[in-house]
Amino acid sequence: MYLTKEQEELLDKPGCDVCMKLLISIGKTFDAGRMIEVKSVHISGISYQNIGNAGLEWLEELSKTARFRVKATVNPAGMDLQRWREMGISEDFYRKQLRILKALERMGARLEMSCIPYYFERIKRCESLAWAESNAVVYANSILGARTNRESGITAIASAVTGLTPEYGMHLNSNRVADLAVKLKIPEGCAPLAGCEIGKLECRVPYIVCDRKLREDEMRAMGAAMAATGGKAMFHVENQTPEWNAYEKPEDKVEVRAEELKEMKEENAPVEMPDLIAIGCPHAYTEEILKIAELTRDRFKIPVWIFTCRRVLKDENAMRAKEKIEKFGGKVFCDTCMVVSPATERFGKVMVDSGKALTYLPKLRKVEAFFGTLEECIDVALGNVKI
Ligand code: F3S
Repeated sequence: MYLTKEQEELLDKPGCDVCMKLLISIGKTFDAGRMIEVKSVHISGISYQNIGNAGLEWLEELSKTARFRVKATVNPAGMDLQRWREMGISEDFYRKQLRILKALERMGARLEMSCIPYYFERIKRCESLAWAESNAVVYANSILGARTNRESGITAIASAVTGLTPEYGMHLNSNRVADLAVKLKIPEGCAPLAGCEIGKLECRVPYIVCDRKLREDEMRAMGAAMAATGGKAMFHVENQTPEWNAYEKPEDKVEVRAEELKEMKEENAPVEMPDLIAIGCPHAYTEEILKIAELTRDRFKIPVWIFTCRRVLKDENAMRAKEKIEKFGGKVFCDTCMVVSPATERFGKVMVDSGKALTYLPKLRKVEAFFGTLEECIDVALGNVKI
């Protein structure tokens, strides 16, 4: 792989050397011709629940010498940094999670602990990124027209330290061409389930032809779900996403029908009263928190946990909405989420409004997961629905 003189010099810098070697070996594996500079990095896999002592020690060791050269944000951690006791997190977990965060901070990470970096940053079309949170990767490629592979926590850190990524995969036009057209009829409230279905289709980049205009929140939920069920890194929506018309259209076609999605919704609806309603996967925007507050007109009958990040709560309206939700018994946690925190494990049955959480909760937290729209989740929590 071609390296500039400056890039070669990184191989001799303590801290940089190991990261550069890692990126070179990945570049060679994928036949990358060169390294390109990245504008920003987003690091996932920072929950102590996921990386354990081995990850913690590796990060502490690296942080003795390595420093980030580009802006690097981090994903949710395993607990709310202020309200971890309310979540039932142990002191030992708390301390180890803090050590992970301190190591990342020493290297130069911005500890926003959010999985929606696209909500805060102005990302330009064609900008090169090294992001490692799957929902953010799909969002950046599909909805913003930026370019990022689906990085791992470790390769994202290597890119933060070097400011580089090998040019392969989603950085090349040839891999952004759709290979399957998906005719989609989507009933209101079914975008996360449509994402689950499209994720499972055998293709690399789906080209979605929808019977109506999709809203941004629907595309976001759909993208997060298709990354979870099928590892997709990008989709196009005809007439909507920035690169829908940039490449040749696929010849192969399939259909996802409204009836299928309605059936899927029924199959995943709660069959018993859930023990927890968990909302905010991806992390809740201000608009969602306002909507939940508006729907909350009485005391919740079961625990309701909403996950977001501190930056969202800087908005006064979001803060007021949080206070209202909490007055009625809900909890709005920051810094973490229902999937990466072990706190969810003490609930047997969890109802969510997210296709990604519906997919990962049974696998990673070993809980039964039910699906409903945001409105349905709140209705169940308020006891307005008989199950
Ligand atoms: Fe974000 Fe956690 Fe979901 S990191 S996308 S809320 S699994």
